[in-house]
Amino acid sequence: MLQLRPATSNDIPALQGLILDHGANEWNHLPEEEVKAHLAAIDDSSVRGIVAQEAGEVVGIMTYEIGTFYPEFEDSPDIIHGYVAEGVVHRSLTGRGIGVQLMEEVIRVLAGEGIRHIYAKRHEENPFSKRLLEKTGFEVVATFDDPFIRPTGSRRTTVCRYVVK
Ligand SMILES: CC(C)(COP(=O)(O)OP(=O)(O)OC[C@H]1O[C@@H](n2cnc3c(N)ncnc32)[C@H](O)[C@@H]1OP(=O)(O)O)[C@@H](O)C(=O)NCCC(=O)NCCS
Repeated sequence: MLQLRPATSNDIPALQGLILDHGANEWNHLPEEEVKAHLAAIDDSSVRGIVAQEAGEVVGIMTYEIGTFYPEFEDSPDIIHGYVAEGVVHRSLTGRGIGVQLMEEVIRVLAGEGIRHIYAKRHEENPFSKRLLEKTGFEVVATFDDPFIRPTGSRRTTVCRYVVK
């Protein structure tokens, strides 16, 4: 049975393996050192995550942060919002709704803390994250050329936003 729970420091090695082994595809920007530094921040809770676990194994992760990542899309630059950073599901389990459940849990937690806007970015052409974000109620706020981190396809990044109801 699938269980969702907050990520802890003990999960960091498993999450590193999951993200680096199962997150890589032609659209994803996942430099190993940045992924490691991102996950290390779970230690001080500046990065948080929801883990999906099945039969004792970590099979999915959605990491998120709060801060002022996208002041250009906010009414005032100091408004704190959410940002979903890494979302990966074990390759053998994609398409079963785990990604949607993880995102809905992140939204529930952040909404419970009073966060009104949650952002996520993706390769403009990543069909899986596009579908995941559409299904969970995110809307596109901008698409821009991003050739340094997007070596494939249109080489553009799309920023999406969820507005808490
Ligand atoms: C993006 C990701 C986390 C989605 O997780 P998931 O558990 O597969 O998502 P869900 O099962 O909740 O599905 C969401 C939608 O994406 C579709 N989808 C997900 N994986 C798919 C696949 N391999 N092939 C076709 N469609 C897929 C689902 O069918 C569903 O759409 P639908 O309801 O119209 O069928 C997962 O595909 C993944 O880890 N991808 C590799 C890493 C990545 O690209 N992350 C996004 C970075 S921004």
